[in-house]
Amino acid sequence: MYWLGIDVGTGGTRALLVDRQGKVKAGFTAPHEDMRMERPLWAEQRPENWWDAAQQAIRGVLAQAGVSGKDVRGIGLSGQMHGLVMLDERDQVIRPALIWCDQRSQAQVDYVNAKLGRENVLKWTANPVLTGFTLPKLLWVRDNEPPNFERVRKILLPKDYVRFRLTGEYATEVSDASGTSLFDVVNRRWSYEMVDGLGLDRGILPSVAESDVVSGCVTTAAAEATGLAPNTPVVGGGGDQASSAVGNGIVEPGIVSCTLGTSGVVFAHMEKVAYDQAGRVHTFCHAVRGKWHVMGVTQGAGLSLQWFRNQLAPDKNYDQLTAEAATAPPGSQGLYWLPYLMGERTPHLDASARGGWIGLTNKNTRADLIRALLEGVSYSQKDCLDIIEELGVTVTSVRASGGGAKSAFWRQMLADVFNKRVVVLETQEGSAYGAALLALVGTGEYASVQEVCRAAIREVDCANPDPARAELYARGHKVYQSLYPALKPLGL
Ligand code: XUL
Repeated sequence: MYWLGIDVGTGGTRALLVDRQGKVKAGFTAPHEDMRMERPLWAEQRPENWWDAAQQAIRGVLAQAGVSGKDVRGIGLSGQMHGLVMLDERDQVIRPALIWCDQRSQAQVDYVNAKLGRENVLKWTANPVLTGFTLPKLLWVRDNEPPNFERVRKILLPKDYVRFRLTGEYATEVSDASGTSLFDVVNRRWSYEMVDGLGLDRGILPSVAESDVVSGCVTTAAAEATGLAPNTPVVGGGGDQASSAVGNGIVEPGIVSCTLGTSGVVFAHMEKVAYDQAGRVHTFCHAVRGKWHVMGVTQGAGLSLQWFRNQLAPDKNYDQLTAEAATAPPGSQGLYWLPYLMGERTPHLDASARGGWIGLTNKNTRADLIRALLEGVSYSQKDCLDIIEELGVTVTSVRASGGGAKSAFWRQMLADVFNKRVVVLETQEGSAYGAALLALVGTGEYASVQEVCRAAIREVDCANPDPARAELYARGHKVYQSLYPALKPLGL
C-alpha cells in the first residue's frame, strides 16, 4: 500500500509515492509552462496547466513504481502559496492565476491599510497585507478588470484548484489559507472582519479545515484522467512551506529548518501563536492541528549564487563555486555581500532594497567574492532566526535542506553563523514528502503529524559550530546589519 504526495510548485508539479513507513518508493516531476511576465512585477500561470502537469506526474510516478492506482490509499496536496485562481459559475477558470511572486498590487495594499487600518489587519490576520498575498490580487482584478471580477463565484489557491479537479470540492486548509490576508490565523477560520470590511462576498471562499482532514475523494472522471482509483481520499495537505516543514519534521518545539532554494526560509514550529508587531516574519497556521509556525524569508538566497554563476562564472557549476569559496578565509578578508537582488522580505520588508558587495580592496580574490556571497546569505538567514528567537521560540538545532544545503561547506558556515548545530536528513524530498506524510495521518495510519514524523524522519549528518569562527561571524553580522540602513538613504 502506498500514499501519494503532490506538490504544485512554480516550475513543475511533483508526485511522490511513499510506503506506510514513509519510505520513498518513487518520484516524478512534470514541468509547467514558463510563467507569464507580461509586464514588470507581473507573474501569471494557467491553472489548467497545473492540472495537466498533475495528471502527468501521477501517471508518471505510478508507472515508474509499477504501482496500480488501486494500491494508493490516500493523497496529500502541497503547493506554491498566495496565488489567486478565480472560477465562474460553470467552474471555468476566468483568467490566468496571479501567482505568489506577482507584485502588481501595491495600490490595493495601500487601499486595504487605509480602509481597515494596518493595526486591525495585523490583529485580524496576524500579518500585514503584502503585495504577494492573495487578497490584494483579488482587489487588483476588481479595480482593473471589472468584467472578470463580476464573474467570480469561487476563489482557490493553486493546490486547491488541483484538489477541485481531483475531487470536485472547493476546499482549502489552514496553512495555505493563512497566506491570503483573508484568514484569521489566531482563530483558524476565515476572517469575516476582512471579507465584510472590504465588501467581498463570503460565498466566494472555499471551505477550510485542518491540514490532515480528508477534503474529498477522487471522482470517476479524475480517476480516468490520472490512473488513480475512484473514491481515493484526498487530505487537506499544506502550503509548500508548511508541507516542507512536515517533511523536515519541524512539528515540535526546538528544531527549526533552513531551506536554501532560490529564496531562503527559516521556519519554526510554535505551540502558541505569536506575531512580530512589525510584520517582518510571517505567522501562519501550521499543518499540525492547533499549532502555528513562523517563517522569515530571504528573497535572494540560492538566487545570489545563481546570479554570480550566470553573470561571472558561466563555465562553473555550484560545486566548483563553493569549493573555490572554501579556499578564502572566514570573513572573506573584510568583504560583505548584501543579497537583496529581488528586494527583501525579512527583516526589511522592502521591495526596492538593492544588493551588492561592500568593502572590496585590491587584495580580494574571486574566492572572497563567492565566500562573501555565501556569508551574506547566511547573515540574512541569521536575521530571520534572530527575529524568530525574539518571538520566544527556543532553537536547539537547525535542519538544513534545499539545493544550498547539499554543500557541506555551506552547512558548516550556517552552523558557525547561527552558532547552532546544523543537521541534514535522510529524505530531502521537501514539500511533496510532507504532503504524503499528511496523507498517512489523514487516512488513519498514524495518530498525529508528530507521530508520523518521529517514525519516518532520520538525521544523517551534523555540523557543530566552531567557537572561533562563531565569534568572528557574530562581529561580521553586526557590520552586515549596519550596511542596509547606511545605504538606504542613498537609494542603494
Ligand atoms: C511562501 C512563499 C513561497 C511560495 C512559492 O510565503 O512565498 O514559499 O509559496 O514557493
